[in-house]
Amino acid sequence: MTIHIGAAPGDIAETVLMPGDPYRAKWAAETFLQDARLVNEVRGMLGYTGTWNGHRVTIQGSGMGMPSLSIYANELIRDFGAKTLIRIGSCGGMQDKVKVRDVILAMTASTVNSPSSGIFRELNFAPCADWGLLQAAAQAASKHGSATHIGGIYSSDVFYDERPDLNEQMVRHGILGVEMEAAELYTLAARHGCRALAVLTVSDHLGTGEALPSDQRERSFGDMVEIALEAAFS
Ligand code: HPA
Repeated sequence: MTIHIGAAPGDIAETVLMPGDPYRAKWAAETFLQDARLVNEVRGMLGYTGTWNGHRVTIQGSGMGMPSLSIYANELIRDFGAKTLIRIGSCGGMQDKVKVRDVILAMTASTVNSPSSGIFRELNFAPCADWGLLQAAAQAASKHGSATHIGGIYSSDVFYDERPDLNEQMVRHGILGVEMEAAELYTLAARHGCRALAVLTVSDHLGTGEALPSDQRERSFGDMVEIALEAAFS
């Protein structure tokens, strides 16, 4: 039991999927895991542990933004022994070739700032995904037939951003999409010798303003869960 995770020792699997939304954690656990049971409900940030094809898996909400994810990922790694952490979430598309519903596998995650920025001082650390997970997720995504993009994303501190000039530079430098958590997850995984990856569905597009209708979000989210599970245990 930690400050933010009420699970008993041994309740958390070494492999953890982390959606931002705790209700997505509930839905994914009930839909994809066998014998899923609730292991955390502190602050309503639901976490479930069950099995997938015989492998133990925890699906734990991270909340929105890097400060929130950082709390859960730190406790999962340091107190519960998590070794593989896969973010499953949505992002805003930033390139013309990236369409709503496409999947993005984040090879790197650029930031302006993160909870870890303080320790790097003048260094621009480059948070990157675990190569084995990335490769396995790319294979799983192609099997699913999802249109998939692999490359850099931007982990922003704000959803309602006021820096069109910054977005313009990122588009110019090939950044595929924007979300709010992956850079801190990758940095923590690097610090603690864990494997991390972000599997993202494009839910909206910054250029076109198109957005995924809510009735189609569930299916896209389901594809991501399957890609993440297949990657974790391939
Ligand atoms: N910005 C930041 N995070 C997001 C977005 C966005 O446009 N879409 C989904 N997550």
